[in-house]
Amino acid sequence: MNLAGLRVLITGATGGIGSALVDKLRVQGCELLLHGNSKQGGCDKNFVRADLTTPEGVARLVDAATNFNINVLVNNCGVNDFGAFEEVDIDRIIKVNTVAPMRLTQALLPHLRSKKEAVIYNVGSVFGQIGYPGYVAYCASKHALKGFNDALTRELADSSVRVQYLSPRAVGTAMNGAAANALNVELGNAVDAPSQVAEIIARQITHGDSRVQIGFVESLEVRLNSLFPGVIDSALAKQLKQIKQHF
Ligand SMILES: NC(=O)c1ccc[n+]([C@@H]2O[C@H](COP(=O)([O-])OP(=O)(O)OC[C@H]3O[C@@H](n4cnc5c(N)ncnc54)[C@H](OP(=O)(O)O)[C@@H]3O)[C@@H](O)[C@H]2O)c1
Repeated sequence: MNLAGLRVLITGATGGIGSALVDKLRVQGCELLLHGNSKQGGCDKNFVRADLTTPEGVARLVDAATNFNINVLVNNCGVNDFGAFEEVDIDRIIKVNTVAPMRLTQALLPHLRSKKEAVIYNVGSVFGQIGYPGYVAYCASKHALKGFNDALTRELADSSVRVQYLSPRAVGTAMNGAAANALNVELGNAVDAPSQVAEIIARQITHGDSRVQIGFVESLEVRLNSLFPGVIDSALAKQLKQIKQHF
């Protein structure tokens, strides 16, 4: 798919990955409709502010996207909360990471189906395939997003709407607070720059790959976790004390 001329809604365009993607797609000649929640989108006239945990926020963005005549929906907005499961706000995480993309997609599908070519692009996470201590609700939300993505991919296989999924590893954005960053440094986890992720997204939309996992080691871990989850259980049990020190 040629990027030039695509009309793209990016949710979470005020965030780290979102704003890098705005820069990348703009240079490629895409027309962009930007969304954010608490932050303003600078002086961009095509900016919609909406809290996607609310039906009103979703409805406002759906109206704007239909009027803007999008043919690509990038479900990118997301929240995380590193720490003990007892402490996290389950509803907020599931609503933003899972329910919002599903509701937006459902409401925009009739519009997207009317296009000769359309894309629903879901930004997941490696934690959508590997359950990780300290990220319990986040992992659940991204596992659900992955299930949604895969089932929808297959349901729309006979349509003009393509569904694509990206599974980033850690990325250097505001989503990761001081504790999560310190843990990544201590464990030697690779952390990508938002611009690298934006580059991968642009390439994936161009080439049409259904699913991309960032990182060779992470790809192996995902496969290992699916075939032999006990191996990952043991590896993470050895790191658990270290991980919990950062809660
Ligand atoms: N950073 C990582 O390590 C990492 C790794 C793997 C996957 N990802 C995924 O990549 C995507 C982008 O993350 P990021 O790292 O760029 O995060 P980020 O910098 O924290 O940006 C998050 C975006 O989501 C928006 N958002 C938050 N709450 C919202 C709500 N209630 N309603 C609507 N929008 C809301 C934020 O809007 P405002 O800023 O305007 O409030 C912001 O634009 C997410 O889906 C995330 O799960 C990130």
